[in-house]
Amino acid sequence: MDITTVDKYIEDNKDRFLTELIDLLRIPSVSADPAFSKDVLRTAELLKSGLEEIGVDNVEICPTAGYPIVYGEKIIDPNLPTVLVYGHYDVQPPDPLDLWDSPPFEPVVKDGKIYARGACDDKGQMYMHVKAVELMMKTEGLPCNVKFMIEGEEEVGSDNLGEFVKANKERLKADLVLISDTAMIANDVPSITVGLRGLSYIQVEVTGPKRDLHSGIYGGAVANPINVLCDMISSLMDENKRIIIPGFYDGIIEVSEAERAEMAKAPFNEDEYKKDLAIDAVQGEEGYSTMERCTIRPTLDVNGIWGGYIGEGAKTVLPSKAFAKISCRLVPGQDPDRITQLLVDYIPSIAPKSVKVKVAPHHGGDPYVTPTDFTGYQAAHKAMQTTFGKDPIPIRGGGSIPIVAMFEEELGLKSVLMGFGLDSDAIHSPNEHYGVFNYLKGIQTIPFFYKYLAEMS
Ligand code: BES
Ligand code: MN
Ligand code: MN
Repeated sequence: MDITTVDKYIEDNKDRFLTELIDLLRIPSVSADPAFSKDVLRTAELLKSGLEEIGVDNVEICPTAGYPIVYGEKIIDPNLPTVLVYGHYDVQPPDPLDLWDSPPFEPVVKDGKIYARGACDDKGQMYMHVKAVELMMKTEGLPCNVKFMIEGEEEVGSDNLGEFVKANKERLKADLVLISDTAMIANDVPSITVGLRGLSYIQVEVTGPKRDLHSGIYGGAVANPINVLCDMISSLMDENKRIIIPGFYDGIIEVSEAERAEMAKAPFNEDEYKKDLAIDAVQGEEGYSTMERCTIRPTLDVNGIWGGYIGEGAKTVLPSKAFAKISCRLVPGQDPDRITQLLVDYIPSIAPKSVKVKVAPHHGGDPYVTPTDFTGYQAAHKAMQTTFGKDPIPIRGGGSIPIVAMFEEELGLKSVLMGFGLDSDAIHSPNEHYGVFNYLKGIQTIPFFYKYLAEMS
């Protein structure tokens, strides 16, 4: 794989690469909302034709109990290493809609960035792999075999992918999994994600009186479920932002001082971080840096809270019910099922007698760490070094991709998390975007990953 060949192909085809991505972004494949189910299926169809057009074989829309998995492969020589590309074609809901500067499913390119829901997470990053494989096939040929497995339920917990993986172990045989669904430090500071946090997610329902009450007639004497819920939530953490649920930190594999010192070398500017988020101060667990707090430490956050009157003006009411969605990010050594059970048991145990509390578990996911001493990581390192002209820095990511731990458990495969997004791309937020630079950089870098993997194997 020669850099001039790669660059020329990209230069000659970049407008089409962009148009094709925009066509994919135009379909609102929101997996969380059944109102979009036809669109999610349409996206799978479009992806299937995209794979067929570049000459991938056995392209199939594999049904599951939920949204289908798009599978396809190009096996050129069974003796060469095989890359299993994983990504997702579903996206997060676009709301709040009024905070978007342009509609989420009418992509626009502005200041070198593609604005649309899913631009970075993960349509843009996933499609780089399709275009990179096209590039290799149309120029010097594939140096490795490739299998694509693109799912439509990542944003809702990948509930059905596990079963597909278990049922297709032979078909999914590969040497490693390659994923672009994470971020790097900056466009001039390449990095490779070597860790993902796990997740435990619950919904809490607090019921007080059997009906909404006049807050003047009853207020003061009857428990207000919203007040109670807020009290309970605030009692889950102490003043040092440690989660006080007994057993929560049990079993955590602590990161060594040496590793922490290594991680601290990654460039990070706290003033810029605050400025970007328009906050005057950061907060978090005592004894840990900002970067550590959002990567190697577990968390507990309320994702949504509701109840009572939220319409225009004021209504004096003491509501009957209050709700909250709470998630914990988990780190190696924490089992999501165990943590979910802790939450399910603990939250009702601290409720006053004046209310009833129900806790329902949602999806979860295991944490993951990629070793830096295996060929997959080293091929990614060398590929980024080639196209960025700099050594990439290994970093832990704070987000979760629940299925990654399962690739290891079920298929025995390690995952390389070679992402090209930026934390500032506003994934899951209004005005999500992806840099044209990043999109093309991915398409340029991926062929070198294949080249070096083949050379090293
Ligand atoms: N691509 C993200 C995960 C991610 C983003 C990891 C940035 C590291 C850095 C993925 O699509 C995602 O949003 N995952 C969910 C998991 C879920 C819905 C079960 C998450 O992390 O909230
Ligand atoms: Mn993603
Ligand atoms: Mn996501």
